[in-house]
Amino acid sequence: MNTLVVYGTRYGATTGTAEEIAKILREEGFDVKVVNAKKEKIKDITPYDLIVVGTGVALGKWTGEIQDFVKRFETELTQKKMALFVSTGKFMAERQLKEKPTAVEDTRKIDIDDKVAKYKLHPISIGFFGGVLNLNKMNFLSRRMFGGFIKEQMGTDGFNETEPGFYDMRNWEEIQVWTKDLAQKARQ
Ligand SMILES: Cc1cc2nc3c(=O)[nH]c(=O)nc-3n(C[C@H](O)[C@H](O)[C@H](O)COP(=O)(O)O)c2cc1C
Repeated sequence: MNTLVVYGTRYGATTGTAEEIAKILREEGFDVKVVNAKKEKIKDITPYDLIVVGTGVALGKWTGEIQDFVKRFETELTQKKMALFVSTGKFMAERQLKEKPTAVEDTRKIDIDDKVAKYKLHPISIGFFGGVLNLNKMNFLSRRMFGGFIKEQMGTDGFNETEPGFYDMRNWEEIQVWTKDLAQKARQ
């Protein structure tokens, strides 16, 4: 099955997630091309049987390049098998659950459901994944906000820096399980 994994990223999480998804799909026998939509503009999706669209979310917004992609191919995407995954702050919402029981649902609505409706997407599968917090790539204000948050809550909570200033909240097992399930659905 000819497959395109196209993604957009601001802080780098979605690159690793897209590459992991591509690796698993290849192991499942799919022919996969991975494209960072900021670096390469996709002109044509007709050769592909399956399109996997991935994006990071910041301040409730998908990356501009993935918004462009789904708008540009709105009609074609309705005629193809497509899947969607997002790299998000789900891990932060999970930590708010005691004070706010709807925190994860609220995040999912903004990060996924509202956009699926807005761009009229019909994914056969949706991946709702954690991302990274990369203090090195943030501007001063974000670094102050997240730097404080991380030091107070995350370090003691099992999320350690994989390199200075870089916190990785991607759950590789969750991503692998999702991708194997996607491979099955795509074959149906
Ligand atoms: C400034 C900033 C704003 C963010 N806003 C949101 C948000 O509104 N919703 C969300 O789910 N995650 C949010 N996050 C967490 C990101 O989704 C997470 O960092 C993810 O890794 C982004 O994907 P990327 O690394 O591929 O860009 C935010 C992160 C930063 C640094």
